[in-house]
Amino acid sequence: VQSTPAQFPIPANVHVETVVSVKHYTDRLFSFRITRPQSLRFRSGEFVMIGLPNAQKPVYRAYSIASPSWDEELEFFSIKVPNGPLTEHLQKIQPGDTILMRHKSTGTLVLDALTPAKRVFMFSTGTGIAPFASLLRDPDTYDRFDEVILTHTCRDRAELTYGQDLLANLRKDPLIGEFAGRVTLYNSTTREETPVMGRITHLIENGKLFSDLGIEPLNRETDRVMICGSMNMLHDVKALVEARGFIEGSLSSPGDFVVERAFVD
Ligand code: A2P
Repeated sequence: VQSTPAQFPIPANVHVETVVSVKHYTDRLFSFRITRPQSLRFRSGEFVMIGLPNAQKPVYRAYSIASPSWDEELEFFSIKVPNGPLTEHLQKIQPGDTILMRHKSTGTLVLDALTPAKRVFMFSTGTGIAPFASLLRDPDTYDRFDEVILTHTCRDRAELTYGQDLLANLRKDPLIGEFAGRVTLYNSTTREETPVMGRITHLIENGKLFSDLGIEPLNRETDRVMICGSMNMLHDVKALVEARGFIEGSLSSPGDFVVERAFVD
């Protein structure tokens, strides 16, 4: 049974795609996969604008593509916001439903905005892990960096599942499994008791992240940084890396770190 209301016309100039699968992780988080428009080219780490055909003027929100650029489908990881203009409806999608997607992909969390280095740190909270799910499955990441350290901090343990599944599947992947040994996932929680507690800002500052992993602390000489999370998280992590001399990069002027907001309502 299709839940798409037939009474609203499909707007011009958008891709009309179909939901392939949906997975609910918690009452706050879910992921879904949709068909990929043949013409869509994107850089791993970029986002697209997504909407539902449920209004005369559909509401669009930015969603990082979580799948790599070689994948035949597109994957997204979303929060469910009660009464959120888009996610209130999006969280109810089923396989076969229609998703609208604007044509252009864009974003700052791309490898081309960083200069070469030995290690890349990907700092994420909540659904901010999505663009890194794309980059982790892109062989280009391993061409450019010897080591990838992905941190994912969430409120509770169940919210970490998406990232843990990602790593488990990476190891089994025929295309990129060979690189999995160069990836480290570091998890922490802030509201439920788990082996590592605390915000990533705290764990960088007190050095626990580095001592737990037995690695050298952040160093501009050897490291690049990508940051994705809530507005406050971006602000605080950015301040930390800037205090260590890191300079923000962009496509026109590649640098030491890049940031992107992961927030949808
Ligand atoms: P906390 O539980 O202390 O707010 P959310 O799901 O609300 O986006 O939060 C995801 C994770 O990001 C939570 O663990 C949250 O911690 C953490 N967080 C929130 N604000 C910041 C911040 N300014 N710096 C670092 N981590 C943050």
